[in-house]
Amino acid sequence: MKILAIETSCDETSVAIVEYGVRVLSSVVASSSNLFYETGGVVPEVAARAQTEYILPVYKKALEQANLLISDIDFIAVTVGPGLIGSLFVGVNFAKTLSLATNIPVIPVNHLVGHIYSVFINTFIGETVQTKSVTFPSIALVVSGGHTDLVLLKNNTTIEYLGGTRDDAVGESFDKVARILNIDTYLGGPKLSKKASEFVGKNILKLPKPLIDTKEIEFSFSGLKTAVFKEKNNYSVAEIAFAFENSVCDVLFNKTQIVVKKYNPKSIILCGGVSANKKLRELFLSSFDSVFIPPLYLCTDNASMIGSAAYYYKKYATTNLSKIQANPSLSLANLY
Ligand code: KG4
Ligand code: ZN
Repeated sequence: MKILAIETSCDETSVAIVEYGVRVLSSVVASSSNLFYETGGVVPEVAARAQTEYILPVYKKALEQANLLISDIDFIAVTVGPGLIGSLFVGVNFAKTLSLATNIPVIPVNHLVGHIYSVFINTFIGETVQTKSVTFPSIALVVSGGHTDLVLLKNNTTIEYLGGTRDDAVGESFDKVARILNIDTYLGGPKLSKKASEFVGKNILKLPKPLIDTKEIEFSFSGLKTAVFKEKNNYSVAEIAFAFENSVCDVLFNKTQIVVKKYNPKSIILCGGVSANKKLRELFLSSFDSVFIPPLYLCTDNASMIGSAAYYYKKYATTNLSKIQANPSLSLANLY
């Protein structure tokens, strides 16, 4: 059972072929992020124009890499939201056109659900990724550029929303702080983390850890960004980056621990772009028993995770293409 998956929710154009939700047979990701360092953020129309150009060659390359023809494919999966509307349109319209030409049904996929199912993948183009399977119930912390959410997975297909951020998402705050500290203008999260790892000595600066001990399942990161702004001339860039990363990791970890105590899950999932963060990965791996974190190339946006999620949501497959619509306002609280 092979699914050809398409992901174009932000500035990536990605197509992957995934078998039985767990085996990635091919994966192609084209990014236009290099276009946005000057503007310091995605210009939606520019991203969508690049995706319009990339989608066909990326699709052809994905089939070629798997050595398959479109007639070998059982389902087409596509990210329908959340994301930038113009970008979502590119993937959704491509999926619908392909379906119209081939009669292959389309499975609509929520991008954030996709991030969660990135840990269900056990083979990536021949390489073993996970040797054990996720056990249920499971708690998932989804940390990306646009979202910070905690959810409960009761089984393979039942997701219950527990809570999320009141303001900035964690990836967004990494990126904004990287800009404040002049580390990078766009997607500075990884570089900020690298700067933090260069800090040596005893750190004096302590930054706030917003809502760390409250029982409510909610996050707030905008105040932390303001605190960095106030301190930016008083400490070295490395020390501020170190203190910032510490605060963020402690808050994410503590909140997850509060939820774990409450729900007593059998496993914990850490996923989304920020799950590429080394400190956060190490903290989760060393503190919880059964932890699932995607390999680095499945943390940030990719179509493989969309193909994995689609397998578990086959009941939404349809050839009635009017049912497949881009919806930028989907979330983990509003799945479909
Ligand atoms: O999931 P993703 O690729 O896109 C969204 O769905 O938003 O996440 C991208 C986010 C960006 O904010 C990026 O800076 C952040 O993930 N990120 C990191 C790291 N790698 C990516 N943040 C901190 N440390 C990292 N190593
Ligand atoms: Zn994402």
